[in-house]
Amino acid sequence: MSFDSASQPLVEMSNIEKHFGGIRAVNGVSLDLYPGEVVGVLGHNGAGKSCLMRILSGAMIANEGTIKVNGERAEIQNPHDARDLGIETIYQTLALADHLNAPANLFLGRELKTRLGNLDDRKMMAETQRVLRKLNPNFKNLDDPVAKLSGGQRQVIAIARAIYFNVKILIMDEPTAALGPSETAMVADLIKGLRSDGIGILLVSHDMHDVFELCDRVVVMNKGRNVGTHLIEDVTKDDVLSLIIKGELPGDWVPRGRERLQ
Ligand SMILES: Nc1ncnc2c1ncn2[C@@H]1O[C@H](COP(=O)(O)OP(=O)(O)OP(=O)(O)O)[C@@H](O)[C@H]1O
Ligand SMILES: [Mg+2]
Repeated sequence: MSFDSASQPLVEMSNIEKHFGGIRAVNGVSLDLYPGEVVGVLGHNGAGKSCLMRILSGAMIANEGTIKVNGERAEIQNPHDARDLGIETIYQTLALADHLNAPANLFLGRELKTRLGNLDDRKMMAETQRVLRKLNPNFKNLDDPVAKLSGGQRQVIAIARAIYFNVKILIMDEPTAALGPSETAMVADLIKGLRSDGIGILLVSHDMHDVFELCDRVVVMNKGRNVGTHLIEDVTKDDVLSLIIKGELPGDWVPRGRERLQ
């Protein structure tokens, strides 16, 4: 296990509820995340994964429940509050401003200024080069509008933005869904690097291969509920599929690690 479960959790979400009219999109869900840990958040379409993540990122407000960050109660009313707590989000939609270049995207809304209050384009370019080189030494075309970049390069910019602003908790909602295989592998490597820097990552994914390669634990949601939180070494892909589809483990389930010891 790479993460330190003896330390204080970075995030503790407790009994979170989100209703839309009669729909209980998130129904009493609790989840925690430790430094240096990747927790997979799995479930069918409509299970409530994105709503739960949006509540943590301040894009949606829960009807009930509490959130603690570093052991302290957090009132996350909007994305700004989340950012102040070191929470950043990366979406599958590669949400960047297409007509702007990489530095402009990296610093969007948090532009660096000169002492006179003008945009410090030179510094933003230099900082962008520094961060992007660390992530991907082959990164070029920093002056081009990001619309011209590949999906993988765009995702690198999104990740660079999170790193530059000292992310502690990174929410990745299907970060590889729009990428090809080699770009997916690159993002997987980035996730491993972020985790070894002590960042906690919530990874929403439908890709069982990614989940078993990257996650320390999984949380499975079914119809708005958390139907299982498990260490990845305790479950098989079939166990996880059973939780996703039926909302329960196979009838004969015992933790896989223990089964092997018997
Ligand atoms: N803004 C909204 N208004 C009304 N209903 C919503 C809203 N956002 C989500 N829902 C509903 O809440 C439920 C959970 O949606 P959510 O987007 O969290 O699912 P998901 O697990 O992320 O699914 P997917 O795998 O398709 O991304 C769904 O029934 C969805 O239709
Ligand atoms: Mg979703």
